[in-house]
Amino acid sequence: MTHTPPRPSDIFNNEDSNTTSNPTFDSVLSARLSRRNMLRGGASAAASAVLGGAALTGCATGAGDAMTHSMALPGEKLLGFPAVAKSLADVVSVPPGYKVEIIYALGDPILGNATPFKNDGSDADFDKRAGDHHDGMEWFGLSESGQPSRSSVSRGLLAINHEATTDEKLTSFFIHTDGGKASLPRPAAEVDKETAIHGIAVVEVRKSGDKWNYLASSPFNRRLTPQSDIEISGPARGNRLLVTKYSPTGTKTRGTINNCGTGLTPWGTFLTGEENWAGYFHRTAGDDARRNNDKSATSLRRYGRGQGAASRHGWETAGTEDKYARWNNSKTGTSADGSDDYRNELNGQGYVVEVDVYEPTKLAKKRSALGRYAHESAVFGKAVAGQPLAVYMGDDSRNEYIYKFVSDAKWDPADANPANRMGAGDKYLDSGKLYTAKFNSDGTGQWIELSLNTPAVKNYTAYPFADQADICVNTRVAADAVGATKMDRPEWCGVNPKNGEVYFTLTNNSNRSLTPTGSSQLLPDASNPRVYTDMKNGKPQSGNPNGHILRLREAGNSPSATTLTWDVYLFGAEAGAPASPVNLSNLTDDQDMSSPDGLWFSPYTGICWIQTDDGAYTDKTNCMMLAALPGQVGDGKQVTLNYPGANGNLAVQTQVGKAPTANTLKRFLVGPAGCEITGACETPDGKALFINIQHPGEGTPMAAISDPAKYQSQWPGNAGYGPGKRPRSATIVITKADGGRIGT
Ligand code: FEO
Ligand code: CA
Ligand code: CA
Ligand code: CA
Repeated sequence: MTHTPPRPSDIFNNEDSNTTSNPTFDSVLSARLSRRNMLRGGASAAASAVLGGAALTGCATGAGDAMTHSMALPGEKLLGFPAVAKSLADVVSVPPGYKVEIIYALGDPILGNATPFKNDGSDADFDKRAGDHHDGMEWFGLSESGQPSRSSVSRGLLAINHEATTDEKLTSFFIHTDGGKASLPRPAAEVDKETAIHGIAVVEVRKSGDKWNYLASSPFNRRLTPQSDIEISGPARGNRLLVTKYSPTGTKTRGTINNCGTGLTPWGTFLTGEENWAGYFHRTAGDDARRNNDKSATSLRRYGRGQGAASRHGWETAGTEDKYARWNNSKTGTSADGSDDYRNELNGQGYVVEVDVYEPTKLAKKRSALGRYAHESAVFGKAVAGQPLAVYMGDDSRNEYIYKFVSDAKWDPADANPANRMGAGDKYLDSGKLYTAKFNSDGTGQWIELSLNTPAVKNYTAYPFADQADICVNTRVAADAVGATKMDRPEWCGVNPKNGEVYFTLTNNSNRSLTPTGSSQLLPDASNPRVYTDMKNGKPQSGNPNGHILRLREAGNSPSATTLTWDVYLFGAEAGAPASPVNLSNLTDDQDMSSPDGLWFSPYTGICWIQTDDGAYTDKTNCMMLAALPGQVGDGKQVTLNYPGANGNLAVQTQVGKAPTANTLKRFLVGPAGCEITGACETPDGKALFINIQHPGEGTPMAAISDPAKYQSQWPGNAGYGPGKRPRSATIVITKADGGRIGT
């Protein structure tokens, strides 16, 4: 029901292939259709909130002290800066006293003999340059002698996701001189550039004096692209579902793509989440019949690749070479096992991939035990000696689920600095239990194991699972089977270092409705409780356009808990929106925001950094980053949202966290036009914060390619970085003039 045109980045980022009927489950339990509560008078078209009065009783014990302690240093005031105003300017705005340096942008040479970037569309060799659409990012310190270091604050490696590219009508137009060929077949030379700007980069950065730079010639620099050789690890390794012409043994796959959120393991490796990978693949019409309508056709539909699906860029049309043919996910061969075609190629994408950034020659591994879906970040709960490790993850598509992996191996602190880092990954990430979350209206919830030990999985007739590998590859189907709660697009998660609580951004969902039609629209429920209309340039946006942030506490603070408590920490809203059911967190002009996406707790200051990837409030402000000092699960109230409707009143009971104050939530940064703010990591002194400006100018029409005056953005060229006026995704570093920590 969104009436404004989708942004380019939304077209392939908002698949809604979850049409299972199960989890209105929670809405059935929580949202009671009741004529008794029907509003009288008819004047109010908005829902009204009835405060439950009592504070949450379901909250876990033992957190009281933890949530009040501050991680401020003596004499330091966290969030002491003045809030940055909303802005539509084509600049990066930060508070007074803060400095922004641009250090690494699309096309910058990082490997071999790549030439200086010209930024006029003529550049090639992108497998030796910075990729596009910088996203999640982690810091890995280096000592002066080039050894891994947890304490270095002036030399390190940034591992950076290059998620996607700014495109229109097939072509990534800013990297082609004339914008490229926007019809099929695509030219091989254009496709080679477009594939190579995806993947990840490792790049060395250094501080000299008070200036940060990347090092073009560092031996640590590395690119992984969609063509790189990567190992499959965990339950799916060697499984028949992974057999391809490229890897007849099902042990490898080619490349990583659409890398979005990240993670940092306790043993010092990088995790990168593959998100909207499905859209890059083509399936020809009639492919279901060629597969005899078997389980693989069911799986492909569930992952957004019904037969006849067009690919995002048409890469499969660039030639007969294997590197192009692999983007056609149809059954074209005659083998029984798929070893002569790419019918199983899609099963090689959709994982959390582990990379040892300190060892540029070591193969990366896809950790299949963590499940296959549209991964965002993968964040560890606190590592406690003798206990298993928990990894929290979300699946970012409309109506998808939240997940947790719990390792079989118990944490050994000696593994914090192992001789073989990928070996530690094998130990903790290849065997364990995978769970999905169900949230109840009373503020409790369950983690439900996705294995054949769970009867609902074992007995699921819509897709009979063969083994754990099948569950790991078809995780969404297994979560359907157990009735997990369908969420408003789970993006990043983060763990509060003060109390171990886990935060999930739920960025928005146009498919929430009070009058659902079709299988993909849902009523609001306890953990996704809002349906409202937000106006943008005079046009209505429906569902939950502004998103919210849910948080949970594990029972007994245990990583292996199967029960939890939860509430909604924050509801995105415009400051002027009605308090109910929209601005439930009472946001002011210094705090209001829409579509939270990136979320990261600094382990040094404890500040929760919230970043937006928004298309709803962008008539009033560019995307932004806010700093927060949140409380804890249960610090607010139980609230009932009453929605008047044709069939009576829909009452949705939810749990609303304590509203932030001017001292606990503040806008820190606003980005240039058309961008998303994403990725966050710091030097361990908390004095240099690295973030990414993704897709500035993404609203530029391809037809404007030869007229920079018509670009939506000219950043970072207009800020003095590099040649040309074509906008470029870039990494920036933020420091404070007085040498203080970031966010003070
Ligand atoms: Fe790549 Fe869900 O953001
Ligand atoms: Ca609006
Ligand atoms: Ca994201
Ligand atoms: Ca995003």
